[in-house]
Amino acid sequence: MPVLVIEHATLADGRSDVDVVVRDGQIGAIGPGEGALVRALGANDLTQWIDAQGQLLSAPFVDAHFHMDATLSYGLPRVNDSGTLLEGIQVWGELKPDLTMQALLDRGLAYCDWAVAQGLLAIRSHVDTSDPRLLAVRAMLELKKRVAPYIDLQLVAFPQDGVLRYNPRSSDPSCSHSALDLLIQALDLGVDVVGGIPHHERTSQAGADSVRMLCELAAERGLLVDMHCDESDDPMSRHIETLAAETVRLGLQGRVNASHATSMHSMDNYYVSKLMGLLRQARLSVVANPLINITLQGRHDTYPKRRGMTRVPELMAQGITVGFGHDCVMDPWYSFGAADMLEVAMMGLHVAQMTSQQGMQQCFAAVTQHAAQILHLPHYGLKVGHPADMVLLQARSVFEALRLRPQRLMVMRRGKVLAQSSPRISTLSLPDRPSTTRFFWPA
Ligand code: FE2
Repeated sequence: MPVLVIEHATLADGRSDVDVVVRDGQIGAIGPGEGALVRALGANDLTQWIDAQGQLLSAPFVDAHFHMDATLSYGLPRVNDSGTLLEGIQVWGELKPDLTMQALLDRGLAYCDWAVAQGLLAIRSHVDTSDPRLLAVRAMLELKKRVAPYIDLQLVAFPQDGVLRYNPRSSDPSCSHSALDLLIQALDLGVDVVGGIPHHERTSQAGADSVRMLCELAAERGLLVDMHCDESDDPMSRHIETLAAETVRLGLQGRVNASHATSMHSMDNYYVSKLMGLLRQARLSVVANPLINITLQGRHDTYPKRRGMTRVPELMAQGITVGFGHDCVMDPWYSFGAADMLEVAMMGLHVAQMTSQQGMQQCFAAVTQHAAQILHLPHYGLKVGHPADMVLLQARSVFEALRLRPQRLMVMRRGKVLAQSSPRISTLSLPDRPSTTRFFWPA
């Protein structure tokens, strides 16, 4: 049976000179000296060797919050001129009638190519159910099937226009379904997670009603919940409180996530001190989307301008699982991005001022381990018996990976190499200086 050995790797937990032995697509052994053991016990011509040269071998990146149905649609049918959240929703609404199954699939597949090349092998994507045709839902379910051999794509039924606010007859006068019917149909078709957008409902009461209704639906069906919750600068947008209370009432502890939660940035500290206890009791997780939160929030401010990202280090200090999401790449809300979760982690680190040694590790975990926990991914991480899913980075530590957002030298899933990149090396022609640099220090 062919065996693959990756030697002399550094792991995200700081262990160095570690060898990983891959057999039958699984991690057979991991630790110092395991490569030497394979040599002594029976390496043969079929044994493959990869020398990691002290570089970082990590579990794959995980994106805890994305919108695959909108990705790569930048400029369609027009660009978001103001760059605001509300104009983004408007542009998406204008594009929706012209969406086709093929275009959605083509863009999704292209994005998944980028994701694999970046070592991003699990994505939770919200998919818009505010459409009587459920076109995006059908396209994303097909995409999920197509990419299943290389990406875990988890789908959230997301009523973008509000499950109580949206009237499907506004899109199709012959439609006899409610927005809730459409969301339920999406779940029946195979969408995995119940979504919501309480702050976008007409009133705070309607927002709270939507949370209650959608959590009950998830409890009935035994599904996870992930709502866009309080993506607002309004400190009185407190749907996260209802989400946590409903989680406890319905026994959904550990199964519910609040995405964005940006209003928490603007809440007063006294209220947050009470809220934290409720979040802990509900074992609610939170996903911040640093790239998008920093660009879309605080738009009504002059100076000082709020950052608008949720309270990441404070939540983590309470033992609450916090992941980071990319949210958007080249879509009506965000023009940039290339499926690089290290770019997301780096922005999160800056916005939350998480520059301590522990803070850096936590930001890396927010795009790996913590995000995997939020998705309830089984068998995640570099451990014996787990699938051989891993990424070799051109960096010698987590700190260096964050600093450089380096090349993904090798991306592996189930023991199979899916992507490779050449190391980044710049050649120099300088007097009395080395002929190359890889941006390492010490070199
Ligand atoms: Fe989102």
